[in-house]
Amino acid sequence: MRKNRAATLSLDRAAMSAVAVEFDGHIRQQLDLRRRAGLSAPVDLTTELLDERIEGRPLTDEEIVSIVRNWTVGELGTIAAGVGAVCKFLADHPDIQSDLRAARDDRELLARASDEILRIDAPLIANRRRTTAEVTIGGRIIPDQARIVLLWASANRDGRVFVDPTDFRLDRDPHDNLLYGEGIHACPGAPLARLELSVLMEELLGATQSLEPGADAPLRAKYPAGGWSRLLLRLR
Ligand code: HEM
Repeated sequence: MRKNRAATLSLDRAAMSAVAVEFDGHIRQQLDLRRRAGLSAPVDLTTELLDERIEGRPLTDEEIVSIVRNWTVGELGTIAAGVGAVCKFLADHPDIQSDLRAARDDRELLARASDEILRIDAPLIANRRRTTAEVTIGGRIIPDQARIVLLWASANRDGRVFVDPTDFRLDRDPHDNLLYGEGIHACPGAPLARLELSVLMEELLGATQSLEPGADAPLRAKYPAGGWSRLLLRLR
Protein backbone atom coordinates (compact mmCIF):
# COMPACT_ATOMS: atom_id res chain seq x y z
CA MET A 1 0.00 0.00 0.00
CA ARG A 2 2.84 2.38 0.87
CA LYS A 3 4.55 1.82 -2.47
CA ASN A 4 1.28 2.16 -4.32
CA ARG A 5 0.44 5.38 -2.50
CA ALA A 6 3.88 6.86 -3.14
CA ALA A 7 3.65 6.01 -6.85
CA THR A 8 0.11 7.44 -7.11
CA LEU A 9 1.10 10.66 -5.35
CA SER A 10 4.11 11.17 -7.58
CA LEU A 11 1.89 10.63 -10.66
CA ASP A 12 4.69 8.38 -11.90
CA ARG A 13 2.96 5.99 -14.33
CA ALA A 14 5.99 3.68 -14.66
CA ALA A 15 6.21 3.31 -10.87
CA MET A 16 2.46 2.70 -10.66
CA SER A 17 2.58 -0.10 -13.21
CA ALA A 18 5.69 -1.60 -11.51
CA VAL A 19 3.75 -1.78 -8.24
CA ALA A 20 0.79 -3.36 -10.08
CA VAL A 21 3.07 -6.00 -11.65
CA GLU A 22 4.67 -6.70 -8.26
CA PHE A 23 1.25 -7.11 -6.68
CA ASP A 24 0.07 -9.42 -9.48
CA GLY A 25 3.19 -11.49 -8.78
CA HIS A 26 2.07 -12.03 -5.16
CA ILE A 27 -1.28 -13.27 -6.41
CA ARG A 28 0.24 -15.57 -9.05
CA GLN A 29 2.43 -17.03 -6.30
CA GLN A 30 -0.74 -17.88 -4.36
CA LEU A 31 -2.20 -19.60 -7.41
CA ASP A 32 1.00 -21.66 -7.92
CA LEU A 33 1.03 -22.65 -4.24
CA ARG A 34 -2.53 -23.95 -4.51
CA ARG A 35 -1.92 -25.81 -7.77
CA ARG A 36 1.12 -27.53 -6.28
CA ALA A 37 -0.76 -28.40 -3.08
CA GLY A 38 -3.53 -30.09 -5.09
CA LEU A 39 -6.13 -31.57 -2.76
CA SER A 40 -4.39 -30.19 0.33
CA ALA A 41 -4.75 -26.61 -0.94
CA PRO A 42 -6.43 -24.34 1.63
CA VAL A 43 -10.18 -24.16 1.30
CA ASP A 44 -10.71 -20.51 0.47
CA LEU A 45 -11.98 -18.18 -2.22
CA THR A 46 -8.71 -18.17 -4.15
CA THR A 47 -8.79 -21.97 -4.43
CA GLU A 48 -12.47 -21.80 -5.36
CA LEU A 49 -11.66 -19.41 -8.20
CA LEU A 50 -9.18 -21.96 -9.61
CA ASP A 51 -12.00 -24.52 -9.83
CA GLU A 52 -14.63 -22.04 -11.01
CA ARG A 53 -16.28 -22.59 -14.40
CA ILE A 54 -17.86 -19.66 -16.22
CA GLU A 55 -19.86 -20.49 -19.33
CA GLY A 56 -18.33 -23.96 -19.28
CA ARG A 57 -14.66 -22.89 -19.13
CA PRO A 58 -12.20 -22.30 -16.30
CA LEU A 59 -11.11 -18.74 -15.61
CA THR A 60 -7.76 -17.72 -17.08
CA ASP A 61 -4.97 -16.79 -14.68
CA GLU A 62 -5.26 -13.24 -15.90
CA GLU A 63 -8.94 -13.15 -14.97
CA ILE A 64 -8.32 -14.68 -11.54
CA VAL A 65 -5.49 -12.24 -10.86
CA SER A 66 -7.74 -9.36 -11.87
CA ILE A 67 -10.58 -10.53 -9.58
CA VAL A 68 -8.31 -11.14 -6.58
CA ARG A 69 -6.52 -7.83 -7.17
CA ASN A 70 -9.83 -5.99 -7.23
CA TRP A 71 -11.06 -7.69 -4.05
CA THR A 72 -7.81 -7.15 -2.22
CA VAL A 73 -7.00 -3.62 -3.29
CA GLY A 74 -10.67 -2.67 -2.78
CA GLU A 75 -10.17 -3.53 0.83
CA LEU A 76 -6.63 -2.56 1.80
CA GLY A 77 -6.61 1.19 1.30
CA THR A 78 -10.18 1.84 2.40
CA ILE A 79 -9.98 -0.19 5.59
CA ALA A 80 -6.57 1.24 6.49
CA ALA A 81 -7.89 4.78 6.01
CA GLY A 82 -11.17 3.85 7.74
CA VAL A 83 -9.39 2.56 10.85
CA GLY A 84 -7.46 5.84 11.17
CA ALA A 85 -10.57 7.95 10.60
CA VAL A 86 -12.62 6.02 13.18
CA CYS A 87 -9.86 6.17 15.83
CA LYS A 88 -9.26 9.88 15.23
CA PHE A 89 -12.96 10.63 15.45
CA LEU A 90 -13.35 8.72 18.73
CA ALA A 91 -10.32 10.48 20.22
CA ASP A 92 -11.67 13.90 19.19
CA HIS A 93 -15.19 13.24 20.51
CA PRO A 94 -15.01 12.00 24.10
CA ASP A 95 -18.80 12.17 24.57
CA ILE A 96 -19.53 10.01 21.55
CA GLN A 97 -16.64 7.75 22.54
CA SER A 98 -18.13 7.29 25.97
CA ASP A 99 -21.62 6.49 24.56
CA LEU A 100 -20.12 3.92 22.20
CA ARG A 101 -17.94 2.49 24.98
CA ALA A 102 -21.09 1.88 27.00
CA ALA A 103 -22.75 0.21 23.99
CA ARG A 104 -19.70 -1.70 22.78
CA ASP A 105 -21.41 -5.09 22.89
CA ASP A 106 -23.89 -3.92 20.29
CA ARG A 107 -22.19 -4.74 16.98
CA GLU A 108 -25.10 -3.44 14.96
CA LEU A 109 -24.91 -0.05 16.65
CA LEU A 110 -21.13 0.07 16.25
CA ALA A 111 -21.51 -0.70 12.53
CA ARG A 112 -24.03 2.15 12.18
CA ALA A 113 -21.65 4.40 14.09
CA SER A 114 -18.78 3.49 11.74
CA ASP A 115 -21.02 4.31 8.73
CA GLU A 116 -21.77 7.72 10.23
CA ILE A 117 -18.17 8.48 11.24
CA LEU A 118 -16.91 7.56 7.77
CA ARG A 119 -19.66 9.60 6.15
CA ILE A 120 -18.12 12.59 7.91
CA ASP A 121 -14.48 11.59 7.28
CA ALA A 122 -14.35 9.64 4.02
CA PRO A 123 -11.78 6.85 3.66
CA LEU A 124 -12.44 6.69 -0.08
CA ILE A 125 -12.56 10.21 -1.48
CA ALA A 126 -13.56 9.59 -5.09
CA ASN A 127 -14.03 7.18 -7.98
CA ARG A 128 -13.87 7.82 -11.69
CA ARG A 129 -16.50 7.34 -14.37
CA ARG A 130 -16.93 7.88 -18.09
CA THR A 131 -20.42 8.90 -19.18
CA THR A 132 -22.10 6.63 -21.73
CA ALA A 133 -24.71 9.24 -22.69
CA GLU A 134 -25.31 12.96 -22.27
CA VAL A 135 -26.61 13.54 -18.77
CA THR A 136 -27.85 16.52 -16.77
CA ILE A 137 -26.82 16.64 -13.12
CA GLY A 138 -27.46 19.56 -10.81
CA GLY A 139 -28.56 21.67 -13.77
CA ARG A 140 -25.33 21.05 -15.71
CA ILE A 141 -25.12 19.13 -18.96
CA ILE A 142 -22.31 16.60 -19.05
CA PRO A 143 -21.63 15.31 -22.57
CA ASP A 144 -21.38 11.68 -23.64
CA GLN A 145 -17.96 10.04 -23.08
CA ALA A 146 -16.89 12.68 -20.54
CA ARG A 147 -14.48 11.64 -17.83
CA ILE A 148 -15.85 12.59 -14.46
CA VAL A 149 -14.93 12.15 -10.83
CA LEU A 150 -17.54 11.12 -8.28
CA LEU A 151 -16.59 12.85 -5.05
CA TRP A 152 -18.12 10.58 -2.41
CA ALA A 153 -16.52 12.69 0.32
CA SER A 154 -18.31 15.80 -0.88
CA ALA A 155 -21.69 14.17 -1.63
CA ASN A 156 -21.72 12.69 1.86
CA ARG A 157 -21.42 16.14 3.41
CA ASP A 158 -23.98 17.82 1.18
CA GLY A 159 -25.94 20.17 3.42
CA ARG A 160 -29.02 19.80 1.19
CA VAL A 161 -29.20 16.12 2.12
CA PHE A 162 -27.67 16.00 5.59
CA VAL A 163 -28.78 18.55 8.18
CA ASP A 164 -25.64 19.78 10.01
CA PRO A 165 -23.50 17.51 7.84
CA THR A 166 -20.46 17.44 10.12
CA ASP A 167 -22.51 16.37 13.15
CA PHE A 168 -22.50 12.72 14.18
CA ARG A 169 -26.11 11.52 14.25
CA LEU A 170 -27.37 8.00 14.34
CA ASP A 171 -30.91 8.97 13.35
CA ARG A 172 -30.09 9.81 9.73
CA ASP A 173 -31.56 7.82 6.84
CA PRO A 174 -28.89 5.19 6.05
CA HIS A 175 -29.93 5.23 2.37
CA ASP A 176 -28.55 8.76 1.99
CA ASN A 177 -25.07 7.62 2.99
CA LEU A 178 -22.90 6.99 -0.10
CA LEU A 179 -19.96 5.59 1.87
CA TYR A 180 -20.14 2.27 0.03
CA GLY A 181 -21.27 3.69 -3.31
CA GLU A 182 -24.51 3.20 -5.15
CA GLY A 183 -25.81 1.24 -8.13
CA ILE A 184 -24.30 -1.78 -9.85
CA HIS A 185 -20.78 -1.05 -8.60
CA ALA A 186 -21.76 -0.55 -4.97
CA CYS A 187 -19.18 -2.06 -2.65
CA PRO A 188 -19.56 -5.86 -2.33
CA GLY A 189 -17.22 -5.71 0.67
CA ALA A 190 -19.50 -3.43 2.72
CA PRO A 191 -20.73 -6.16 5.13
CA LEU A 192 -17.14 -7.27 5.75
CA ALA A 193 -15.96 -3.67 6.17
CA ARG A 194 -18.73 -2.97 8.69
CA LEU A 195 -17.87 -6.13 10.58
CA GLU A 196 -14.15 -5.28 10.63
CA LEU A 197 -14.77 -1.72 11.81
CA SER A 198 -17.25 -2.74 14.50
CA VAL A 199 -14.84 -5.40 15.80
CA LEU A 200 -12.11 -2.74 15.81
CA MET A 201 -14.26 -0.44 17.95
CA GLU A 202 -15.45 -3.22 20.23
CA GLU A 203 -11.87 -4.37 20.91
CA LEU A 204 -10.36 -0.90 21.18
CA LEU A 205 -13.06 0.44 23.50
CA GLY A 206 -13.08 -2.81 25.50
CA ALA A 207 -9.33 -2.77 26.08
CA THR A 208 -9.00 0.89 27.11
CA GLN A 209 -10.54 3.40 29.46
CA SER A 210 -9.87 6.35 27.21
CA LEU A 211 -8.58 7.20 23.80
CA GLU A 212 -7.21 10.71 23.39
CA PRO A 213 -5.34 12.69 20.75
CA GLY A 214 -1.56 12.25 21.03
CA ALA A 215 0.94 15.04 21.61
CA ASP A 216 1.93 15.50 17.95
CA ALA A 217 -0.41 17.05 15.41
CA PRO A 218 -1.89 14.48 13.05
CA LEU A 219 -1.15 14.67 9.32
CA ARG A 220 -3.93 14.45 6.76
CA ALA A 221 -3.39 11.92 3.98
CA LYS A 222 -2.98 13.57 0.60
CA TYR A 223 -5.59 13.21 -2.12
CA PRO A 224 -6.41 10.74 -3.64
CA ALA A 225 -5.85 8.94 -0.33
CA GLY A 226 -8.36 9.50 2.47
CA GLY A 227 -7.86 9.33 6.22
CA TRP A 228 -4.63 10.23 8.02
CA SER A 229 -1.04 9.54 7.05
CA ARG A 230 0.20 10.07 10.62
CA LEU A 231 -1.92 9.79 13.72
CA LEU A 232 -0.66 9.50 17.26
CA LEU A 233 -3.15 8.57 19.95
CA ARG A 234 -2.89 8.13 23.69
CA LEU A 235 -4.54 4.97 25.00
CA ARG A 236 -5.20 4.55 28.69
C1 HEM B 1 -14.49 1.30 4.76
C2 HEM B 1 -14.23 0.42 3.82
C3 HEM B 1 -14.71 0.52 2.38
C4 HEM B 1 -15.22 1.59 1.68
C5 HEM B 1 -15.45 3.02 2.18
C6 HEM B 1 -15.51 1.12 0.34
C7 HEM B 1 -16.10 1.91 -0.63
C8 HEM B 1 -16.40 1.46 -1.90
C9 HEM B 1 -17.09 2.24 -2.90
C10 HEM B 1 -17.59 3.68 -2.73
C11 HEM B 1 -17.18 1.47 -4.02
C12 HEM B 1 -17.85 1.87 -5.34
C13 HEM B 1 -16.81 2.21 -6.35
C14 HEM B 1 -17.42 2.76 -7.64
O1 HEM B 1 -18.64 2.98 -7.70
O2 HEM B 1 -16.64 3.00 -8.57
C15 HEM B 1 -16.52 0.20 -3.73
C16 HEM B 1 -16.38 -0.82 -4.63
C17 HEM B 1 -15.70 -2.00 -4.34
N1 HEM B 1 -15.25 -2.43 -3.11
FE1 HEM B 1 -15.32 -1.38 -1.42
N2 HEM B 1 -15.17 -0.20 0.25
C18 HEM B 1 -14.68 -0.61 1.46
C19 HEM B 1 -14.26 -1.88 1.81
C20 HEM B 1 -14.15 -2.93 0.93
C21 HEM B 1 -13.78 -4.28 1.30
C22 HEM B 1 -13.52 -4.75 2.71
C23 HEM B 1 -13.73 -5.01 0.13
C24 HEM B 1 -13.38 -6.44 -0.12
C25 HEM B 1 -13.26 -7.35 0.80
C26 HEM B 1 -14.11 -4.11 -0.94
C27 HEM B 1 -14.16 -4.46 -2.27
C28 HEM B 1 -14.69 -3.68 -3.26
C29 HEM B 1 -14.76 -4.08 -4.66
C30 HEM B 1 -14.25 -5.40 -5.27
C31 HEM B 1 -15.40 -3.03 -5.34
C32 HEM B 1 -15.70 -2.94 -6.84
C33 HEM B 1 -17.14 -3.31 -7.12
C34 HEM B 1 -17.50 -3.12 -8.59
O3 HEM B 1 -16.82 -2.37 -9.30
O4 HEM B 1 -18.50 -3.70 -9.02
N3 HEM B 1 -14.37 -2.87 -0.43
N4 HEM B 1 -16.08 0.22 -2.43
